[in-house]
Amino acid sequence: MLNRDEMEKLLQGMSLREKVAQVTQIGLDSFFADSTKPTGPMIAHRLTKEQMLNAGSLICSEGLDREQEEQIARMVEEGTRHKIPPLIMSDVIHGMRTIFPIPLGMGASFSEDATEEMARVGAEEASACGIHVTFAPMADVVRDPRWGRSMESFGEAPALCGRLSAAVVRGFHGKDESAEDGMATCVKHFAAYGLVQAGQDYCHVDVSRTEMYNTYLPPFREALDAGCDMLMPAFTPVDRIPATANPWLLRHVLRRQWGWNGAVITDWGSIDMMAVQEFTADLTEGARLSLENGVDMDMMSFAYISRLEELIEKGEVSEELLNESTRRILEVKNRLGLLDGRGSRVRTISPQQTRAYREKALQAALKSCVLMKNEGVLPLKNGVKLALTGSHADEHGLLGGWSAAGKNEETPSLRDVFQKESRVTLCRPEEADVILFACGEKQEETGEACSKAYPMLPDGQIEELLALSALGKPVVAVLFCGRALILSDMEPLCDAVLNAWFPGSEGAEAIRRLLMGDEVPSGHLPVTFPRCVGQIPIHHDMIPTGRPNRHDGNHYVSRYLDEESTPLYPFGFGLSYVPFSVSPVETDRKELRPGEVLRLSVAVSNQGDRAAETVLQLYHHARQGAQLNPARTLDDWRRVRVEAGETLTVSFLLPWEKLATLSPEGEPVLPRGVYDFAVGESAQAPWTAEVSMRS
Ligand code: GLC
Repeated sequence: MLNRDEMEKLLQGMSLREKVAQVTQIGLDSFFADSTKPTGPMIAHRLTKEQMLNAGSLICSEGLDREQEEQIARMVEEGTRHKIPPLIMSDVIHGMRTIFPIPLGMGASFSEDATEEMARVGAEEASACGIHVTFAPMADVVRDPRWGRSMESFGEAPALCGRLSAAVVRGFHGKDESAEDGMATCVKHFAAYGLVQAGQDYCHVDVSRTEMYNTYLPPFREALDAGCDMLMPAFTPVDRIPATANPWLLRHVLRRQWGWNGAVITDWGSIDMMAVQEFTADLTEGARLSLENGVDMDMMSFAYISRLEELIEKGEVSEELLNESTRRILEVKNRLGLLDGRGSRVRTISPQQTRAYREKALQAALKSCVLMKNEGVLPLKNGVKLALTGSHADEHGLLGGWSAAGKNEETPSLRDVFQKESRVTLCRPEEADVILFACGEKQEETGEACSKAYPMLPDGQIEELLALSALGKPVVAVLFCGRALILSDMEPLCDAVLNAWFPGSEGAEAIRRLLMGDEVPSGHLPVTFPRCVGQIPIHHDMIPTGRPNRHDGNHYVSRYLDEESTPLYPFGFGLSYVPFSVSPVETDRKELRPGEVLRLSVAVSNQGDRAAETVLQLYHHARQGAQLNPARTLDDWRRVRVEAGETLTVSFLLPWEKLATLSPEGEPVLPRGVYDFAVGESAQAPWTAEVSMRS
């Protein structure tokens, strides 16, 4: 790696034109474009081939082969003065070729280990395709299933989103970020992108500073504290100022309050978008405002590479700002070993490695599936006559959105795996003992720009289910979804519901093992499932009303005239094949003071006849405070395996400081008064302990 003096020497030796190229990301095709036949951006922005060769980063979707990697190295060597390799960046979100469950499914696993392993496998496969940086983790908290990007999130709880985002950073870095299988990370989308108006992607976001500091910013802080290398602002605004040029977000919070000095890269074309939404007059103003607010690289707007040089030459923007940004981009490359000739990463992944990766994806899928209903029909009995039907019975598209180089043709369907299952006889519904109804949304309907006004089972599936249930046989639904679909019409027609999300490369095999009882379901919901769209947003940490509905006949209370106020399924919910019991919480003290740590313990018993895992969740509730507190906040959780008939004691440690919330200025609001605590298997766990906060 270069030392500080060598880095400064490199920077000082760069021309203005070379620096504005270094803070620019272009597409792979533009880089390879034949200089005699300029491509779109070269024409549109009158760019030279030399400028493209000096681009600081190339974005690609499926990585590079060895020839492309060598060609890039050769073109940079021959076509540029300083021979600085471009950062190869791509969206490796839940795997590269071996695909794990979608992040919402990994949220349901409540497993930092499985999430870190997902990222590690992604790094090993993606670095072997020549990729240096992934646009992950996505740390957005989501509360609106109309938003298609719910699938990319770890869910609605800031604590879950934060810890799993940090696990992603660790996984991609591995032991050494500069090793051939190490990768850098870029946390996104900063911040509160999940609050888009009415769940419609790219729409307005209106959020208070208090909600920012207490809900939407903390997961980003955890990812950055874990060593995340880059950060991507959201397409959306805060205080009506686009995140891409937002001084509060990018200067005040990120640089001053958090003291973070990593590299900020825009989202795709977002400098251009600011002109489209009539915030900036043109790309020139967009380039100036973005640089002045701390954006260090322009993704695919070509604003920096085509406008900054003139702005600086005219003295309208400081060259020191450009130097600051160029330095941050070079720092990322230096950490990856790209500035001292260790850039080559393309290598072959062996069949043995692929088999090992797929086994890890299978284990992750087993942890992410959530058993939402089971009225005695699961696990399936040996010899059962099974009708496998529904939209996803023969579906190979089980990878979900943002599945990089994952291939449907390498993804077994449910039919594929059940045809090999000797313990069942596949037959028509009329002849069956049990009907397996594989349903839900298609993977293409999830992800970016996939908002739904009616987030429920696609047309025709309820009618199909009604016809099947008229046969009078047990119906087991296997649900594929990238969001908390509205299941109110479907659920009553099913005797069991297994939510598989989009379970990845080995998802069908995981579902088979769970339905046959070879494995026990252990996933828990990372998002609340509403009864209807009208309830959205509904989540476990709502702020309590001053007029709760006590069902005492009082008219003037908070309620709907036409719907329950409770969710169909609460956050944290998930069934097992064995009954667990959880004792009331015991605490090691009745008062907690600054600097002290509260120990909370429960005894969890497996009252079944086989070992199984569950996720014990720790919640608190403040009975008073200097600001309104959520009705329930997830503080911690533990995924535990308990042998048949065994009782385990599980303890949590909770520092007094962790119970503070934040003011609109981001300052701590200290806990005071009595706090209730609960530990259980969902956000409906009863309060069973209380501790007084002293300051
Ligand atoms: C997209 C997404 C972002 C992604 C980027 C690069 O528009 O908003 O999540 O990383 O562009 O593909």
